[in-house]
Amino acid sequence: MTLEQKVGQITQADIRSVTPDDVRKYYLGSILNGGGAWPGMNMHGSVDDWLKLSDEYYRASMSTDMAVKVPVIWGTDAVHGHNNVYGATLFPHNIGLGAAHDPALMARIGHATAEQIRATGITWAFAPTLAVVQNPRWGRTYESYSSDPAEVRAYAEAMVAGLQGQLGSATSVLATAKHWLGDGGTFHGQNEGVTQTTEANLYRTHAAGYYGALAANVQTVMVSYSSFTDTATGRAWGKMHGNAYLNTDVLRGRLGFEGLVVSDWNGIGQVPGCTNWHCPQAINAGIDLAMVPDDWKKFIAWTIEDVQARRIPMSRIDEAAARIIAVKLRSGLFDRSPAAGPHPGAEVMSSPSVRELAREAVRKSLVLLKNDGALPLKRGRILVVGKGADSLPMQSGGWSLTWQGDNTKTSDFPNADSLLAALRKSLGSTNVDYSADGTGVDVSRYSGIVMVAAEKPYAETAGDIVFPASLRHSSRYPEDLAALDRVSGKGVPVVTLLFSGRPVAANDLMNRSDAFVAAFLPGTEGLGLADVLLAAPDGRAAYDFTGRLSFDWPAGDCLPQQGGYRFPRGYGLSLTRPARLGPLPESPPTMACPPESR
Ligand code: BGC
Ligand code: BGC
Repeated sequence: MTLEQKVGQITQADIRSVTPDDVRKYYLGSILNGGGAWPGMNMHGSVDDWLKLSDEYYRASMSTDMAVKVPVIWGTDAVHGHNNVYGATLFPHNIGLGAAHDPALMARIGHATAEQIRATGITWAFAPTLAVVQNPRWGRTYESYSSDPAEVRAYAEAMVAGLQGQLGSATSVLATAKHWLGDGGTFHGQNEGVTQTTEANLYRTHAAGYYGALAANVQTVMVSYSSFTDTATGRAWGKMHGNAYLNTDVLRGRLGFEGLVVSDWNGIGQVPGCTNWHCPQAINAGIDLAMVPDDWKKFIAWTIEDVQARRIPMSRIDEAAARIIAVKLRSGLFDRSPAAGPHPGAEVMSSPSVRELAREAVRKSLVLLKNDGALPLKRGRILVVGKGADSLPMQSGGWSLTWQGDNTKTSDFPNADSLLAALRKSLGSTNVDYSADGTGVDVSRYSGIVMVAAEKPYAETAGDIVFPASLRHSSRYPEDLAALDRVSGKGVPVVTLLFSGRPVAANDLMNRSDAFVAAFLPGTEGLGLADVLLAAPDGRAAYDFTGRLSFDWPAGDCLPQQGGYRFPRGYGLSLTRPARLGPLPESPPTMACPPESR
């Protein structure tokens, strides 16, 4: 291969900025569709549109003037099902899967997700996230399974095994363990912030998921935007993208990782002295494939110059290109176009069996935090309240059709049920009324009330609850408390569900509810919620609550200085083990939280 061909091979561009002909001309090794990028920038594009575009890129890569052609590989953020694709069944986000404590279920979800991805002609998932989150202020808490390293390790292994299956087969995708290393440990939970800890704790806590992923033969690792500061030595190592010790000596040398290391979206540009298109430090630190979504042309030109000027050794480029090609060989890409060769049909996007699997996951992810006898809800006439109750965007959270999960409507999710739709299907539509804000209803006409409090969708930095802001849900979303206030305390039992990407302070909501369920971000299968909320026709429980918290739940508006959580990790009631929850303390809303140690 020529230098141009090798540098092209280590370059990954976003489909919004690269054409199939660019792939051919510049010998590009990889493309991605970032969150909210679709073929032709049509959110409602069909599975055929995805297949067609995949085939165009593949054929372009196989029509270069190289002696031996190297197929392009396409990566996508399938983080809870194939979430960029219109009509795809979406599973609960990882925080809910973590609460389900069921690694075998995780593997089945991984396999179903891989089928969805392969149905669109794509062979690489940027998942799972293996962050071991220490501070729920982080806007990516929901992408994390648990704050417990041992749990993350077990789930990582199961999810990678499910996604990758039999490498090279028509239902296998490459998995990505991300984001190496310490993404969940940043101070104050700041996205892309600084993880201040010891090196030993980096390995004990934050690397735990990687041990599981490596045991399952994960083929790719994505580097974290975060920085590392070693509190034992005082050394500030700076951005992970420039860290040769952790990316090469530790990941390759000590852990024996043999796949490819990919940088995060413009991540190289965050290394001091670098730009989004020029960063010899990152390549020298061990990044094999550079995710340079927009500025890939400049990246290629600069990297060629770097090699010629010996700022990057030729051997490093050879090694990076060889690793990328080896991963492609193992994944079967050389054998056939993933779009033209055998692959699952479009029906796997939302077949009855994939929907049933997601519904099962929803049932298992629910954590019951309070039940003063209101659950299971007796079948009767039900009033549904709250802005989140008929919102597939809020039920699904970030990374759902769009990156932030914004700019979508419930009607953009076909083959899906909001909680309201699910309750209507279960009870008959004439038995379920809905009032988003709880005004103008005569509560006494109902046998039960279902209230949904919900965070609005977010991803990454936009989701941070920036220190010192309060973690109280009703301070951020006063409309939920207002709606609840209009219907509670009137002699009709109120069951409140919370759609959230993290534990939040909710004493005021709990006090006004007879039962309270942490539902996290369940995705498209609202019937899984209805399954557990509603009693069977004979009045007995149809399903019990088996989910248990995978994160500590704060007692007040702020994180406690030491201990003092309302519900510790592992907590969760069941219908057969009722426990009454007395009134919780309510103080005026906190304007600014006291200093946090993490
Ligand atoms: C992309 C996302 C990416 C983000 C990073 C967005 O434009 O669509 O996939 O994560 O930028 O800032
Ligand atoms: C995120 C990654 C993601 C990438 C591509 C970044 O902003 O941090 O998790 O895989 O974008 O969309």
